[in-house]
Amino acid sequence: MTDTYAIVGNPVAHSKSPFIHTRFAQQTGQSMHYTTLQAPLDGFVHTVTAFRKDGGKGMNITIPFKFEACALATRLTDRARAARAVNTFRFGQENEILGDNTDGVGLIRDIEANLNFPLAGKRILLMGAGGAASGVILPLLQQKPDLLAVANRTPEKAIVLQQQFANYGNIAGGHYQDFSGQAFDLIINATSASLHNALPPAPANLFHGAALAYDMLYSSKLTPFLEFARAQDVTRLADGTGMLVEQAAESFLLWRGIRPETQLIIRQLRDALRHHAS
Ligand code: ATR
Repeated sequence: MTDTYAIVGNPVAHSKSPFIHTRFAQQTGQSMHYTTLQAPLDGFVHTVTAFRKDGGKGMNITIPFKFEACALATRLTDRARAARAVNTFRFGQENEILGDNTDGVGLIRDIEANLNFPLAGKRILLMGAGGAASGVILPLLQQKPDLLAVANRTPEKAIVLQQQFANYGNIAGGHYQDFSGQAFDLIINATSASLHNALPPAPANLFHGAALAYDMLYSSKLTPFLEFARAQDVTRLADGTGMLVEQAAESFLLWRGIRPETQLIIRQLRDALRHHAS
């Protein structure tokens, strides 16, 4: 019997998760099938329940259902509880649904292991204060940066995050302008601005001297954020392709007990994205 998994979202048709998990399964010799499931905006719970009834073993959850997924889980990992958002379900005995969040660890692994950029002692600017940003704050603070500054167009949301995570490390929240003139080693874009081909309203001087600019979104070409960082002479630029593959590897580990090798799949996904764009 082939175990089945799916990613549920809306929209979800362009998800790269089936590409990634199918290759993980081949690489590790696991018999599993992975597909996409588009749930109606008001039909998340029904879609999950039906998939499970049909024998589904686990799911990934993407926009806009990560908060609903958190509410539906019967048990949460610590990192999912801290993020208040779930991107992975593992269905257990009875009606148990274990909810996990592998986004944060995916980002950390990509930055520290793949990009060889240790976060301890660094000054980090995180742009955005929505679900994508809040999910990575605790894992970032756990790497002991000198400062994690959270900047948002609506500063109140960044200040709420500052208060929520104040016990875990040195975190500050505010508007982009509030950090003007400060120096950062790493700038991470966790806003959805790139999706609309827009740029967060960040003063150019925030980028001066930064060693790495990281866009959590992935794209076949440079996002507006990475274009802007390049124009400010930021040395290294990275998009979220590596994060995507790393969070998938962590979900795969939770489901199958095996950690797949990610380097080759990251390269294959980059090639596929480039090929698709041309
Ligand atoms: P996600 O789950 O992807 O984080 P979200 O919770 O809707 O989605 O959050 C989107 C984030 O992108 C927010 O931080 C939002 O800023 P606001 O809180 O001020 O709305 C940010 N964002 C989206 N479009 C933006 C733009 N054009 N400029 C700046 N920030 C933008």
